[in-house]
Amino acid sequence: MDITKCVIPAAGLGTRFLPFTKIIPKEMLPLLNKPAIQYIIEEGMQSALENFILITGKGKNAISDHFDNSFELESILRERNKIDLIAKIDSINKNAAFSYVRQSEPLGLGHAILLARHGIGKEYFGIFLPDDIIMGKTPAMSQLIRIARQEKSSVIAVQEVPMDCVSSYGIINVKKQITPNLFQVSNMVEKPSQKDAPSNLAVIGRYVLSHKIFPALTELSPYAVGELQLTDAISHMIYNNEKVFAYKVQGTRYDIGTPIGWLKATIGLSLQDPHYGPHLRKYLKDLETIDSFIYDTTKNIEHSI
Ligand code: UTP
Repeated sequence: MDITKCVIPAAGLGTRFLPFTKIIPKEMLPLLNKPAIQYIIEEGMQSALENFILITGKGKNAISDHFDNSFELESILRERNKIDLIAKIDSINKNAAFSYVRQSEPLGLGHAILLARHGIGKEYFGIFLPDDIIMGKTPAMSQLIRIARQEKSSVIAVQEVPMDCVSSYGIINVKKQITPNLFQVSNMVEKPSQKDAPSNLAVIGRYVLSHKIFPALTELSPYAVGELQLTDAISHMIYNNEKVFAYKVQGTRYDIGTPIGWLKATIGLSLQDPHYGPHLRKYLKDLETIDSFIYDTTKNIEHSI
């Protein structure tokens, strides 16, 4: 089973991050020195994906500009003999193929995915929701691809969440538990109340889906009230006798769709970084002391980075 293509829906309005997202796409939020969307593309490349179809919308041009060549900047860096910096800015666009589809109205995640159908054809393909940054030894997408090949079926990433959080997620109903981390899905419910939730296994932002998702989305589209939901189309695909599995991916997940989630991701990634980690650890320790600037505003903070 060849899986080389993926879809990255990035046309949402990002209302939870206003006013930042009024002009700047939230996918361009920095995590250390890289925009968040670059972590997604890097995870895709590490999972042997080659074709990236981004669904964008109004005000999202910074994303395509970021993955384009920058001849002017490159030539200035070359003149100044900063060859190592050139590698930093052009390694991605030289090794991945990008295409962009514009969603003219935010009609939902399902609608955004449906727009990619011409680029996918009759293959299995990956989906990344760029709000979810997942860090771990093995890229989350490559864990899903392994399961999709093993089961010759669609597979979605899930994570156990506390019962009082289920109403923020798509929740799976388990048909059969195959291993401690692998489940066959009987259907999915979008944002159920705690009492209606069929489990505490929440869908997170990685999928490998069969192209059969496209007819399912097309069939549901006339009935969508407001947004067309991907979750409903996956349930519809199961109803039409497609097998769908859920896999508890290994790794740390950050939801950067809100300021607090982004802050946690920034701190988490910085603490793990060999360069920034020690500086940040020292800084955080200093903050805890009684003579830190929080208590003594005249104190100079050491800026050693
Ligand atoms: P969300 O439901 O998180 O919406 O979308 P959002 O607009 O990104 O953020 P908030 O809730 O307003 O703060 C989940 C994913 O689906 C994409 C988003 O870009 C995000 O990656 N999406 C959503 C689209 O591409 N198009 C849509 O019409 C809706």
